[in-house]
Amino acid sequence: MEVTTLTAEHMMEFLYGLPDQFADSLDMTFDFAGEYRKPFQNIVISGLGGSAIGGDIVRTLAAGRAPLPVVVNRDYNLPAFVNQNTLFVAVSYSGNTEETLSAYQQAREKRAAVVCLTSGGKLAQMAASDGYPVIKVPGNLVPRAATGYLFAPLALFLEEIGLLDNVRGEIEETVQVLKEQREILNPQVNLPDNPARQLAQKLKDSIPVIWGSSGLTEAAALRWKAQINENAKSPAYYNLFPELNHNEIVGFEVPAQLLAHMAVVILRDQGDHPQVQKRMAITRQIIESRVKEVVEVSSQGQSFLARFYSLVYLGDYTSVYLAHEYGINPTPVQVIDYLKAELAK
Ligand code: PA5
Repeated sequence: MEVTTLTAEHMMEFLYGLPDQFADSLDMTFDFAGEYRKPFQNIVISGLGGSAIGGDIVRTLAAGRAPLPVVVNRDYNLPAFVNQNTLFVAVSYSGNTEETLSAYQQAREKRAAVVCLTSGGKLAQMAASDGYPVIKVPGNLVPRAATGYLFAPLALFLEEIGLLDNVRGEIEETVQVLKEQREILNPQVNLPDNPARQLAQKLKDSIPVIWGSSGLTEAAALRWKAQINENAKSPAYYNLFPELNHNEIVGFEVPAQLLAHMAVVILRDQGDHPQVQKRMAITRQIIESRVKEVVEVSSQGQSFLARFYSLVYLGDYTSVYLAHEYGINPTPVQVIDYLKAELAK
C-alpha cells in the first residue's frame, strides 16, 4: 500500500488492531532459537524511530530481570564492545532504513550473533543471503502502527532462549488490558466518555511536554512525544523523573507567554519509586500556575508490560485525536519520506 494513499481512518483501524498484534505474536515460533542459546555478554538492538521503541521496552524489561545489559543503538555505527559474544538484533519495519542496514553490516563484520526483525525490504534480503534468521512480521502497516509486532516477537524470542522471563504471561495480560481500553478509546465513543478525546482537547494549541520516570515509563514518554510529532505533526518534548528535577524544573520562570502554551502530561505508574511519586507531586505544585495545563495519567493492569502498554495506547489514541483537532491526516509522514528519498540520492 502506498503511504500517501493512507487516510486517518487507516490509522484508527491500525490502532484498534494493536491488541491483536500481541495476540498474533504469541503464536509465533522461533525454530532457529536453539542456535542462540549461548552465554552472550550483551544484547544490542539497532533500529530507528518506530522500530527502536520495542528495543527500549526490552531494555527496560531486561534491566529488572535479565543477566546481561541491553543497549539500544540508533545510529549507523555500533559501540566498540560489540563482538562475537554479542546478540545483535536489527529491527526495521520497512527493512530499508540506512542507519540500521549500516549497523547490521558492522555486526556481521564483528561476528556478532545476528537476528533480524522486519516485514521485508533490503534487511530481509541481506539476512537471507548471509544466512541469518529473520523474524518476519506482516507488512501492511506503517512502522509506528506496528509497535506490537516490533516488540512482542523479540521479547518472546529472548524468553525462549532464556534471557528474559515472564514475557508470555505479561503479553497475555497486555492483550486483555488493551482490548478493554479500545472499547472506550475508539472513535465510536464520544466526549465526555472517551479519555483520549478529552486529552486531545487539552493538548490542542499547546506544546505538549511528556514526563515519565527512568527505568519504568521512559519509553512510554518517548512514544507519546513521537506519536504527537508524527500523527499530529506538532512539536512535543519529553523528559524523565528524577533527572528533570535537576535541570528542566528550573526553566519554568520565563518567558511567561511561551510557558502559557505548554501542557505537561505526567505518566504515573504504581511501580514509580516512592520518592519519584513525591517528586511528581511537588513538581506539579511548582509549575501548575505557570503553564497552560498539567495532566496526570495513570497506567492500568497488573504486570509491567500491561501497565506500560496501557499508557502507550492512551497516548497513541490521543495523538490521533489531536491530529483530528488540527484537521490533519495522521497517517502519512511525508517529511520522513522526503528525507529518506533525498539521502538515498
Ligand atoms: O514511524 C516512522 O515511520 C519512523 O519513525 C520509522 O519507524 C523510522 O523512520 C525507521 O523506519 P523503519 O521502521 O522502516 O526502519
